[in-house]
Amino acid sequence: MQIDILTLFPQMFDSPFSASIFQRAVDRKLVGVNIHNIRDYTHDKHHTVDDYTYGGGAGMILKPEPIFEAVESIKSDIDLKEGIDIVPVILLTPQGRLFSQQIALELSSSSHLILICGHYEGVDERVREHLVTDEISIGDYVLSGGELAAMVVVDAVVRLLPGVLGSEASLLDDSHAFGLLEYPQYTRPPVYRGWAVPEVLLSGNHAQIAKWRREQAVLRTMKHRPELLDKTNLCLEERNLAKDLKQS
Ligand code: ADE
Repeated sequence: MQIDILTLFPQMFDSPFSASIFQRAVDRKLVGVNIHNIRDYTHDKHHTVDDYTYGGGAGMILKPEPIFEAVESIKSDIDLKEGIDIVPVILLTPQGRLFSQQIALELSSSSHLILICGHYEGVDERVREHLVTDEISIGDYVLSGGELAAMVVVDAVVRLLPGVLGSEASLLDDSHAFGLLEYPQYTRPPVYRGWAVPEVLLSGNHAQIAKWRREQAVLRTMKHRPELLDKTNLCLEERNLAKDLKQS
């Protein structure tokens, strides 16, 4: 997968993309990331990227020209090299659809993504209307720019690409993979400060362990994110478990 990110602050991407799983994915050529400075697509002496909002109001708005030109230049390279005609162009904004594991999975099937990090009071509406194909928010709060949101999206997507994680099986156990939060996990020692690992996990009985984990995932979801259970397929036993917990 190739990812192009448009930003006013390219330096913000230096360290998150040069560590751990991400760096390994880059080294193995499973993903490539290009960071583009929106200022490089301006033509005036001052490299102006923002301007006052028409109609009056506080704050500056990102101008459309450098953003259009940056995306068009990236796209023309893609057309030449890869021959793909529809590349998702995603604006990170608090007004977008709420990011989720499902959306990460959806994006992970694209061979190319273009992400635009908004800043200041927002971007000229024509960017939304005529350039972007998707708008994503990472939560109901306002960040000072789209950069951190872009990093969150890229991280969640890249770890889903085949070969990026050591074990593909671990993806299936992720929180949210099946609409439930992940079950509790333990490692050695079996007893730490008097707190013992649940016996079933040491039993070697795989069926019992799988049942315990599913129950714990339901209990944890019920406790922390009960609204997720409405959208999840639970068996009768698990529904009853959730109901009991609700009543207690
Ligand atoms: N830019 C500012 N706040 C944001 C948010 N919550 N999600 C995505 N982009 C943003």
